[in-house]
Amino acid sequence: MKEFDFVVIGSGIAGLSFALKAAEKGSVAVVTKRGKADSNTAWAQGGVACVTSEEDSFELHIHDTLAAGAGLCHEDAVREVITGGPDRIAELVKLGMHFDRRETNGENELDLGREGGHSKRRILHFQDSTGMEIERTLLEQISCHPRIELMENHMAVDFITTGKLGYAMQNSCVGVYVLNEATGEVETLRSDINVLATGGCGKIYLYTTNPDVATGDGVAMAWRAGATISNMEFIQFHPTCLFHPEVKSFLISEAVRGEGGVLLDARGRRFMENHNPQRELAPRDIVARAIDAEMKRSGSKCVFLDITHKPADFVKSRFPLIYETCLVNGIDITKEPIPVVPAAHYQCGGVKTDLNGETSLRGLFAIGEVACTGLHGANRLASNSLLEGLVLASAAFDKSTRNRPPRVTFDLPEWRPGQVTDVDEMVVIFHNWEEVRRLMWDYVGIVRTDKRLQRAATRLRNLHTEVQEFYWNFKITTDLLELRNLVTVASLVVDCALSRKESRGLHFTLDYPARDDAKFLRDTTLRRT
Ligand code: SIN
Repeated sequence: MKEFDFVVIGSGIAGLSFALKAAEKGSVAVVTKRGKADSNTAWAQGGVACVTSEEDSFELHIHDTLAAGAGLCHEDAVREVITGGPDRIAELVKLGMHFDRRETNGENELDLGREGGHSKRRILHFQDSTGMEIERTLLEQISCHPRIELMENHMAVDFITTGKLGYAMQNSCVGVYVLNEATGEVETLRSDINVLATGGCGKIYLYTTNPDVATGDGVAMAWRAGATISNMEFIQFHPTCLFHPEVKSFLISEAVRGEGGVLLDARGRRFMENHNPQRELAPRDIVARAIDAEMKRSGSKCVFLDITHKPADFVKSRFPLIYETCLVNGIDITKEPIPVVPAAHYQCGGVKTDLNGETSLRGLFAIGEVACTGLHGANRLASNSLLEGLVLASAAFDKSTRNRPPRVTFDLPEWRPGQVTDVDEMVVIFHNWEEVRRLMWDYVGIVRTDKRLQRAATRLRNLHTEVQEFYWNFKITTDLLELRNLVTVASLVVDCALSRKESRGLHFTLDYPARDDAKFLRDTTLRRT
């Protein structure tokens, strides 16, 4: 057994910034299931929404966030994150983060991007690779820190709680079991402060803008440990993922539309004006549904995003990653429109927390995409999430060090592997992976119905039984653990969606197409009984 003052699971913006602060106070383990930079953060293109210009104000950013959230944002969370942003950004810059700047009237100022739903230009960015630059900055500090042990290729399996150990006290999280992929052994990490920063669950869908690591591990672990889960029906579909047979999950940033990119149907006609007066810069749920409707109406496999009317030099310098990636795959975006489709992008619900990232379990914090703080409500405003990761990491650090739970004195049991047999039926695991992702895409996508949701629930129940059988009988592997988490999280999305008999924000159902404030102006909450 290894003992740490803090265990952080996940190596994106929230986990790494928490770990850096925590290392000032004690020993820290950062557990990450692949390489250290494999995170959703590293894939973030757009940037960080933050009020920095004199033409902007906190009140305007708060207003835009509340408007996107369709009545379900918690205003206290929105205020906390937005007003806390500038100080956290200043810290990041002090650590060495570069944001793009430009000369305007002899002044060197931040180059602010624009995205859907924002009434002002307020997105701080580094070209179109903001997330990679954030990872570089934080990992440079983390990798050589004497008090931080970076445990790459270690996958968290389950939390160790006093409830599961049978102690008659408030259920508390006192450690975590992690699978060391190199040895195949499960190690026991003991800590009184456990921080989930595992990102989202885009991989429950067949098409996603997320990296392969986004399998909803944190929500599934927290659920099994007994924490409250909220608002999982609100899965954000990004309107513009590259549609290309050779390229998986490549985002075409909303910033392209922010800089004037227009959406065209298969016949080259603009269509967003038929759906919303804000056209291409309407909030994401509206743009994604409009594209879905357009594709269904015309039977085409994709729509097109056109930025060819902008000077080629501007496009190449503002979007170098998108330009190069498309070019390598045969599309010169300065000369031809980009084929795009909507794809699962962001989990707006998650493990329910307060404004300090504290969950309903003592000793367990959740920060970043895995958490549901109330900031996003029923639909996240673009580029608010990196900001939330920074602000909540800092708040969770303050709270966890101010108010440390007392150390547990009892021994934690080692992992018991049970009947250990190698998984010779890998084909079943891969088949089930595909099945979950396909059924979620077909039955629990942008437009839902009760019948499709029920169908998904039935299939997921069967898959759950099958996966549990594997879990108890075979030696665990990362693939099996990820499948188990995918099935759990997919079921939570379906359960939440079935309980919301209205349409709001990202949850749109043909059976209840209107918003029903009288009954549903509230969060959905689930807790394992
Ligand atoms: C994008 O660049 O479009 C993604 C930004 C975000 O999801 O916040």
